[in-house]
Amino acid sequence: MNKQSSAPSFTADALVAEDIDAYLEQHQHKGLLRFITCGSVDDGKSTLIGRLLYDSKMIFEDQLAALESDSRKHGTQGTEIDFALLVDGLAAEREQGITIDVAYRFFTTPKRKFIVADTPGHEQYTRNMVTGASTADLAVILVDARKGILQQTRRHSYLVHLLGIRHVVLAVNKMDLAEYDEAVFRQIVDDYGAFAKEAGIERFTAIPISGFKGDNITASPSPNTPWYNGLSLIEHLETVELASTAAQDRSFRMPVQWVNRPNHDFRGFSGLIASGTVRPGDAVRIVPAGRTSMIERIATFDGDLDEAVAGQSVTLTLTDEVDCSRGDVIAAADDPPQASDQFCATIVWMDEEALKPGRGYWLKLGTQTVTATVQPPKYEIDINSLEHLAAKTLELNAIGVAEFATDRPITFEPYARSRELGGFVLIDKFTNATVAAGMIEFSLRRAQNVHWQPTTTTREQHAEMKNQVPRVLWFTGLSGSGKSTIANEVEKQLALMNRHTFLLDGDNVRHGLNRDLGFTETDRIENIRRIGEVAKLMADAGLIVLTAFISPFRAERRMVRDMLPEGEFIEVFVDTPLDVAEARDVKGLYKKARAGELQNFTGIDSPYEPPETPEIRVNTVDMSPAEAAEHIISRILPLK
Ligand code: ADX
Repeated sequence: MNKQSSAPSFTADALVAEDIDAYLEQHQHKGLLRFITCGSVDDGKSTLIGRLLYDSKMIFEDQLAALESDSRKHGTQGTEIDFALLVDGLAAEREQGITIDVAYRFFTTPKRKFIVADTPGHEQYTRNMVTGASTADLAVILVDARKGILQQTRRHSYLVHLLGIRHVVLAVNKMDLAEYDEAVFRQIVDDYGAFAKEAGIERFTAIPISGFKGDNITASPSPNTPWYNGLSLIEHLETVELASTAAQDRSFRMPVQWVNRPNHDFRGFSGLIASGTVRPGDAVRIVPAGRTSMIERIATFDGDLDEAVAGQSVTLTLTDEVDCSRGDVIAAADDPPQASDQFCATIVWMDEEALKPGRGYWLKLGTQTVTATVQPPKYEIDINSLEHLAAKTLELNAIGVAEFATDRPITFEPYARSRELGGFVLIDKFTNATVAAGMIEFSLRRAQNVHWQPTTTTREQHAEMKNQVPRVLWFTGLSGSGKSTIANEVEKQLALMNRHTFLLDGDNVRHGLNRDLGFTETDRIENIRRIGEVAKLMADAGLIVLTAFISPFRAERRMVRDMLPEGEFIEVFVDTPLDVAEARDVKGLYKKARAGELQNFTGIDSPYEPPETPEIRVNTVDMSPAEAAEHIISRILPLK
């Protein structure tokens, strides 16, 4: 066991003994630095973190207890913590903890408190790294002196920069195994410098260390590196000046988390102040609506405040009864953030299933949740060469830039200006998995210049003139299941009942409006999005719309459902099993698909996701088209 460097080098014991009050005072006002350590497997991350925790002797109580009992089991004495055991414990915990994202560890020195995010190094854990980095002020990029700059080094550095971390430490580790050779260190610093410049990393601090032996970790300079006269890692972490663009210096913004209304006399808006300072009497604007008001009180559990700053949770009351609810942002009236429903963002894709352009995802930004669709990426970024590559989608761990559209305006700022209001995550609506992390670059100007034009004749009047209620009868099912035939039959019956209808049919629409689309997933999603929009316009015009498209994906069917008023979308599942549809093979397409002459054919080499709870299901094995039509009509009446 390595015991040679076990002497803690920076306890505050002397001060404690002399003046306990002064010690406590100093402790209380110590600043906090959050940092992340990034490195590939075997770069010595556990050893380094173990060294920091060990030397600072300020481990969480429970961690201590566990380690003590471990030590006892291993025959070490009393409360002494064994360095090697600590490191093993950290490594094991991290491997097991992979699914729980990030391990945050706390330690302190006389000058600062630290929270270090410890994340696994493998590429497949990009998600964890992004989580850990999103709140960090500084990143320690670990490089093995014997291996130099690796792909993971570049990847981590790029992500760190992308996530807005402006303090980078290049810790060249395992110097002991490289004979403390200055030339080795210089070469790595030069290599990294070249990459950093391209990546936009303006500066970084390089330190030669050995986590195992303890060189340049706590005290400096190490006698083994006489050629290095900079600070030790801890000295650097203790003294690095944090950005002057601190949240407090920026304009005031508070995303509203909830509205507090205990009685009629009090209406408060609660939330965490994302940036700036607020005082009673300040003029504020509620974004996105844009209404202005004035701060009346700043309420907290411990009474009213004269002032509150970024990082504080408060309840604000306003002098007017303005509309304001969860998701709105209360901001400085003279410098509000933007609100838009279209923007450009950089995203890191973190799911096994690739990005589906056009598909609706939940987008969560602060307290706001909206539905967002992503355009096909403008480009993907090659993490090694930093080149822009053409891309149709983004696979697991890919980083790219794309345009976004949301179903209603959201309030944001470019990520470079505000992590709080510029960073977001995308969530799959079905699996609830976080599939991407995003950073907003800018809002698209076209969104600001296109306004909704109110029209005088309402959709209700349109429907009234036709003496009916609008509906969208959405037929879905395999090719050859009978959608078109049955929909046609339903429309015929409705015509006899003097109903105003329109039938949109897959094959026909693909000759005109959608003739630019094929049968890839992306094209099918776009096909349904357009049909959905057209069906909605027709329903606005008061029509009963029938659509006959395979529409194989649940997500897009749900998207159309959500576009329409409650109850107006009726999903009709034409439930014909594949073998029956294939045996019918009216258009001879199944035969072609089986012969390999037709790619991406639904049911053969492209998926069909059957509806889980359709409003109407028809079984074409037992029912004739006329019977099926009758059944459907009986289910949708009355239509007035
Ligand atoms: S959808 O999947 O995007 O909803 P849509 O209903 O518009 O499909 O078009 C399906 C019709 O296109 C089928 O009925 C069939 O006639 C024809 N077609 C041609 N190629 C394919 C294919 N690869 N997969 C499914 N249908 C195809």
